[in-house]
Amino acid sequence: LGLTVSTTGGNASSPLLYGFMFEDINHSGDGGIHGQLLRNNGFQGTTADLTAYAAVGSVTLAVDTAHPLSSALPKVLRIDVPSGTTGQVGFSNAGYWGIPVKKDTYACYFWVEGAYTGDVTVKLQSVATGTVFGSKAVAVTSVAGTWKYYETTFTASAAPDGDNVFVATVDAAKVSGSIYFNLFQLFPVTYHQRYNGLKPDIAGALENVKGSFLRFPGGNNLEGATLARRWKWNETIGPVHTRPGRQGDWTYANTDALGLLEYLYWCEDMKLVPVLGVWAGLTLGGGVTTGTALTPYIDDVLKEIEYITGSTSTTYGALRASHGRTEPFALTHVEIGNEDFLQGGLASYAARFTAFHDAIKAKYPDIIIIASTDQGLPSPKPAGMWIDIHYYLRPDQFVALFNTYDNYDRNYGIFVGEYASTKSNTGATNWWATLIGAVSEAVFMIGMERNSDVVKMAAYAPLMQHFNSTQWAPDLIGYTSDPSFLTLSTSYYVQQMFSVNRGTTILPVTSDTGFGPAYWVASKNDNTGIYYVKLANYGATAVSTTITIPGTTSGSVTTLTGPASDSINLPKNALVVPVTTAITGSAGQFTISLPAWSVVVVAVK
Ligand code: AHR
Repeated sequence: LGLTVSTTGGNASSPLLYGFMFEDINHSGDGGIHGQLLRNNGFQGTTADLTAYAAVGSVTLAVDTAHPLSSALPKVLRIDVPSGTTGQVGFSNAGYWGIPVKKDTYACYFWVEGAYTGDVTVKLQSVATGTVFGSKAVAVTSVAGTWKYYETTFTASAAPDGDNVFVATVDAAKVSGSIYFNLFQLFPVTYHQRYNGLKPDIAGALENVKGSFLRFPGGNNLEGATLARRWKWNETIGPVHTRPGRQGDWTYANTDALGLLEYLYWCEDMKLVPVLGVWAGLTLGGGVTTGTALTPYIDDVLKEIEYITGSTSTTYGALRASHGRTEPFALTHVEIGNEDFLQGGLASYAARFTAFHDAIKAKYPDIIIIASTDQGLPSPKPAGMWIDIHYYLRPDQFVALFNTYDNYDRNYGIFVGEYASTKSNTGATNWWATLIGAVSEAVFMIGMERNSDVVKMAAYAPLMQHFNSTQWAPDLIGYTSDPSFLTLSTSYYVQQMFSVNRGTTILPVTSDTGFGPAYWVASKNDNTGIYYVKLANYGATAVSTTITIPGTTSGSVTTLTGPASDSINLPKNALVVPVTTAITGSAGQFTISLPAWSVVVVAVK
């Protein structure tokens, strides 16, 4: 294969092209990137059970509704201590299938009610051996009928695995009858040391992709199984004990401790442009709100945008300031709903989209409004709108999409808001990303990058999975309660290779061979002078390639491949990782090999 890259001409590439789509699925939020380690800590969601809890000592645990912590959190933990009991008694919490315990400083917050003057002792302990990795005794003066709040920190040593519990105990002899606890929270030192922040290892893995945007909060998890169960921004803000949480759409309760403000801090810390999804009338269980019945929800979106962007002299900007953030956030992209072709939503989407679009544009003319589907749109479409399209496909199907955007209508921006190779070519469901799937995604991405004047943003989805609770696979990042199991999929590395090596201008390329099995796109970063050629070999035979870029002399070649097309990256056994080596050209010419089933990035100057 011979390629010659033009050093002039071409199209400007979208600066936002690669980024992330996030929703709480697979315990990607609670039990995932959010830093809080204790499960069921506010007894939220539709059930009132003791999931994750066990009694310590001769006590009985119950979910109590007669001593609400707040109107948001009416269910609390009651510990009944039989008269005459002595010693340390209380509860353990097993976290999200165990608790990651590292050499770290842990912050612990809790609420207590009931007559008790004594220590509440908290500790992190191995289930298998009973080894205590860290503990702290907190002096408590608690009274009946009033909830009191306590905070503490303690250091821990690293546990050998994730099979650990958090234990909180009291002196049984000092309890008369029952003592009540709620909203125990346990955090490691968080990403950017944020209060109520993110886990640094998972956030760090994402940061290393150097994405440009974050679409949140869904996905299906925006929509709710019923109207009442939709994601409500105003119930995800303020002190966490005032957040009711909700039964999420992916089988489990969401605490909403990862709420709107936390998403915005995440964007700020990771330098991501927020892409805010707003509920647009469709519920997953069926039932679409339309016409004038939508007005309160449109008003609600305007309040949400004011909360994000308003100065402190506005009602909701002042509310944000009362939550600790005076300076407004920038908000440039809002998506109206999610996959509104579902549940009979298409018939009303044009009208619903228009209603939200016009109301937002009237107040915030610079915000780019994104439709959640390319079907059922208003005719004519509002100028400047973008369209979100999703693809979950087999590898061959992705490759067939290579030139999808070559002749696309340039009047509207495209946001490929979700895509992933989810099956093998024979139709078997992938529980985890394969090399061939990742290469096929790279072919599709090359097609998008070649057209990144119209494809403005693209995000692989879903982003993360807890290996112990997976509703949707494959994902980009996987983990368990054992930090050493943090696993980056084959697709993760493709996302990273494409994102960190970005040009500002997509350059014309002449070739001596047509596309397939090798695919390519060339660009130049006008700020650094670096030329990039991204290539994918979707074939079982290596392709020797000569690349000519006049005036360049040296740089690097990064290659991602594996021993077989179905190679996967397992915990502690990644078969598919990028390898970077230096290359030197002769008269602007570089000869490289594209191994079978490979993704390659050449970066030269
Ligand atoms: O990414 C998983 C799901 O796929 C999203 O929630 C939804 O938008 C799509 O159907």
